[in-house]
Amino acid sequence: MNQVNEILDMIGIAGRNQDGSYTRTCFSPAYFDAVEIVQNKMEELGMETEQDAAGNIRGILPGTDPSAKSILIGSHLDTVPSGGLFDGAYGVAGGLAVVQRLKEKGERLCHPIELYGFNAEESNPLGGTFGSRAVAGLISPNQPNLAQALAQYGRTVPEIMSCRRDFTDAKCYLELHIEQGDHLCNKGLQIGVVNGIVGIIRYKVTAIGHSNHAGTTMMKNRKDAMVGMAQLIVDADRCCREIDDTLVFTVGVIRCWPCSENVIPGRVECTFEMRHMDRSKTDALFQAIEKLAAQIPSVQFEIEKTIDKGSVCCDGTLMHTIETAAKMCGTTYTVMPSGAGHDANPMAHRLPIGMIFVPSRGGLSHCKEEWTDPEDLRRGVEVLYHTVLSLDAES
Ligand code: GLV
Ligand code: MN
Ligand code: MN
Repeated sequence: MNQVNEILDMIGIAGRNQDGSYTRTCFSPAYFDAVEIVQNKMEELGMETEQDAAGNIRGILPGTDPSAKSILIGSHLDTVPSGGLFDGAYGVAGGLAVVQRLKEKGERLCHPIELYGFNAEESNPLGGTFGSRAVAGLISPNQPNLAQALAQYGRTVPEIMSCRRDFTDAKCYLELHIEQGDHLCNKGLQIGVVNGIVGIIRYKVTAIGHSNHAGTTMMKNRKDAMVGMAQLIVDADRCCREIDDTLVFTVGVIRCWPCSENVIPGRVECTFEMRHMDRSKTDALFQAIEKLAAQIPSVQFEIEKTIDKGSVCCDGTLMHTIETAAKMCGTTYTVMPSGAGHDANPMAHRLPIGMIFVPSRGGLSHCKEEWTDPEDLRRGVEVLYHTVLSLDAES
């Protein structure tokens, strides 16, 4: 069953950078190269394929029972800039490897399998998990600036609305993914049975001070937006650690105006992101940040929420099916939450979801050093394969 490594290597032709990292940002030519590779492989395996306006690719392997609902499998084909080979692509390659194995063994399932390669899961101007949210019907046509953001990719709001799927003929959604953290690797465990995906809340935080001459303005007279923002970031980071040791806080983007070496910054904008399974923890951090901001003199803060994705739970029955499959494959496993966002989150709004994790070496992801051993990749596919077989045996 080492097809998964071969398929991953094929997908990895798309968007590979000279330094060994991968860049397939949403709607980019490299992204669509990956879609073409996946679509060809799906067709070679006898799947019917279609691309939608959101840039998602779907392959359908028909089942033998016309009344049986589809088992959905998926993950994403886009990457962060200079990301790794495995994040997202592994889940799509794993789904293809399952279909390939069925074909090689001459087995036909009662239930159709639908395999999705989603677009725009990573952070992007349309908002992360855009492709799967379009399929799940979670995009609001009134989302601010949606039409302008789509126009840069040559798409329109009505086209995106038409990507919504009817889920009445769908049984469940499964996603195979690298862990992207160090829990499995540190514990020497082979499989993670995911019990939930953390909520992701993001704010745009703006510090407003006063631009002035960097040489003539004495320190006591400054309204330096950069210094105010720096203080708020350090205070928020400390506060996050005090609230809960599984609460995380990240300032991933910082912009400064006028951004000149000899001018005191008058305006600084940052993204403040926080994640946890429990809403009350992110709420507590946000309230603390508002208080801290009010205590910083000489700089004014404006805070605007930009993303609010609630946490979701995996389906208990599916978790049990995955655990049984892991035991049957003789793998060690643990039950754990996901700190990363996934396409399974939007899908959870429509149908039961289950996720399978494999270890990430050193807990590294979203970087070129991202790595999972071939044997771990193979094992994850094995667990997915047996999960699909036992779901197919149900009605
Ligand atoms: C996606 O990878 C995320 O967790 O931000
Ligand atoms: Mn991912
Ligand atoms: Mn990612």
